[in-house]
Amino acid sequence: MNLNHPGHAHVGDSPPLTPMSLTYLLGRVNHEFESRNRIFDLPTGRFWSPDDDIDLGFDFLGRPAATPIGPAAGPHSQLAQNIVLAWLGGSRLFELKTVQILDQLEIARPCIDMQTIGYNIEWSQELSLAQSLTEYVKASMLLDILGRWEPLTRHVAGPDGTPGPHVLDMSVGYDLAGISNERVAAFIRGMHDARAEIDRLRADIPEPFSQFRDLDFTTALSNTLTLSTFHGCPPEEIEQITKHLIDVHDLDVIVKLNPTLLGYDTVRAIVNDELGYDDVSVKERAFAEDLQFDRGVELIGELNTYAKDRGHRFGIKLTNTLVVDNIKGWMPEDTMYLSGPPLHVLASSLLDRLATALPGVFDIPGHDGDIMVSFSAGVNRDNLADTLAMGVNPATVCSDLLKPGGYGRLAPMLKSLTTALGEAGVDSLGRWRAVCQEAAETEGFTSTVGHYVHRLRSEGGQPYSREANTKRPREVDNELEMFGCVACNFCITVCPNDAFFSIPSLDDQPDRQQYLVWAELCNECGNCMTFCPETGDPAVVKPRLFVDPEVFAARTGQGFLIEPDGSVTARPGDIESEEAAPVVARLLRSPAGDPMGLTS
Ligand SMILES: Cc1cc2nc3c(=O)[nH]c(=O)nc-3n(C[C@H](O)[C@H](O)[C@H](O)COP(=O)(O)O)c2cc1C
Repeated sequence: MNLNHPGHAHVGDSPPLTPMSLTYLLGRVNHEFESRNRIFDLPTGRFWSPDDDIDLGFDFLGRPAATPIGPAAGPHSQLAQNIVLAWLGGSRLFELKTVQILDQLEIARPCIDMQTIGYNIEWSQELSLAQSLTEYVKASMLLDILGRWEPLTRHVAGPDGTPGPHVLDMSVGYDLAGISNERVAAFIRGMHDARAEIDRLRADIPEPFSQFRDLDFTTALSNTLTLSTFHGCPPEEIEQITKHLIDVHDLDVIVKLNPTLLGYDTVRAIVNDELGYDDVSVKERAFAEDLQFDRGVELIGELNTYAKDRGHRFGIKLTNTLVVDNIKGWMPEDTMYLSGPPLHVLASSLLDRLATALPGVFDIPGHDGDIMVSFSAGVNRDNLADTLAMGVNPATVCSDLLKPGGYGRLAPMLKSLTTALGEAGVDSLGRWRAVCQEAAETEGFTSTVGHYVHRLRSEGGQPYSREANTKRPREVDNELEMFGCVACNFCITVCPNDAFFSIPSLDDQPDRQQYLVWAELCNECGNCMTFCPETGDPAVVKPRLFVDPEVFAARTGQGFLIEPDGSVTARPGDIESEEAAPVVARLLRSPAGDPMGLTS
């Protein structure tokens, strides 16, 4: 990783994302699956195939989902291919990227820093509301198609011959005025009833998927919504926004709460003293501006009653990220948002505190209330089974998926969950929780949450402490070049957008791979730069391919326009691009090249 590379020159000139059409996406699915045994760069060996004997299903606010994990709102739930990748990995609950009325914002770069724990400054969606709707509709259509696509069945189907049900959960922010605005309302209506958008997209379905053009696609994409109370969401508006979503949009609502609810003193003590993060400066001011614990407790009860009286369900989600001072200075902005291991301890502690303040209210072991608790905070393969034992549904993941392996980390998470259940001699999540509750009671705890939090905080915070999380990504002393590198594959797997792909090198080094980037899918978040062991930013150094002539013309720097017939045009006047164009063209024409089947 390189902190001084000119890749940073793109800060302030942040490239917008240009989603890929359904035609290209499906072309890519077919071509990669046939020629390379993978889809969107995820090898079939990393697809989740359900265990015949263990049922991981749960009810998300009354809707069935076949597994209890999925991407948390963030970079993994924004573009259609991200959602497909998460689904192939075994996700069945998708907390979609938060949308908001301010949909033309520029995010400073780099905006993701996963060097040790997790930090980001990615504080908004990067698509317009209309584009977000189209992406979510495309994703839903792709899942409908791929779930029925015969060549894929043996990799993803469960005992009933299907991949099992999934749920798309909307996420909106950040204030009542924005959420009540007609444009946000149109987005929500479009998710409720996507018929018009689906009909428009049917014609984009290419061969060999044409038999699906008339499919009876899912048209009611989502009728649940998670409200993000982050980014300055006025705490006094949470109540009105939730009521608005229930009354006007007929939705079941989850309120995503922030770790600030624990109070500054507790958060600071856990992060700095207990876990030893003396390099984290918790932002005290953010606590005063956010929802306070006592009001939060009242609000949870009030909103649950309000929803129930109107035939709706209500839930909470723990938690969003923690606001801290940006003392690292690797990303721009004064403030950054912490996620990953320390947040796991904070969110679990917050659940324990809320459950103690509201006994019998949450739908968790030892309480048996009716408020569902969704969870996203440092969930990974090692703690998924314990996390779910707390009774939370689902456990969504963001930071862990930004580490090498990316979406390929999901199936091993589910595998270790099924192993834990199998070893406990149980065949469902409900039975797993009952066994863990019995163990908690034997040790004198009233609930699995109390038991888990006691373990988390009494073992010196391991493996959540700073000491356990200091290892930085590997570095080698080599300047990254357009062609040739250590071929570690990290740029492919850590990119949430699947912007990178590789092609076996030509002639001289047939066993090596060349890495290229779809520039339109790259928002220069910085994550590949973090994990690339060489000196340089892969997003800037590797050949940048475009398929949209207008986007190509609007950008600067090295780049190549790939025409529909597969021919390659170098950026006019750019010597580096002109010299490299023949190599790019030959790579794309090689048997395993041309990842979208453009030239076939
Ligand atoms: C890069 C990034 C972008 C995120 N964007 C959103 C968002 O748009 N809406 C939201 O509610 N949470 C967002 N989050 C928070 C995640 O959904 C999640 O709650 C949090 O990161 C904790 O989970 P983790 O520890 O697994 O990362 C984002 C997190 C990251 C790291």
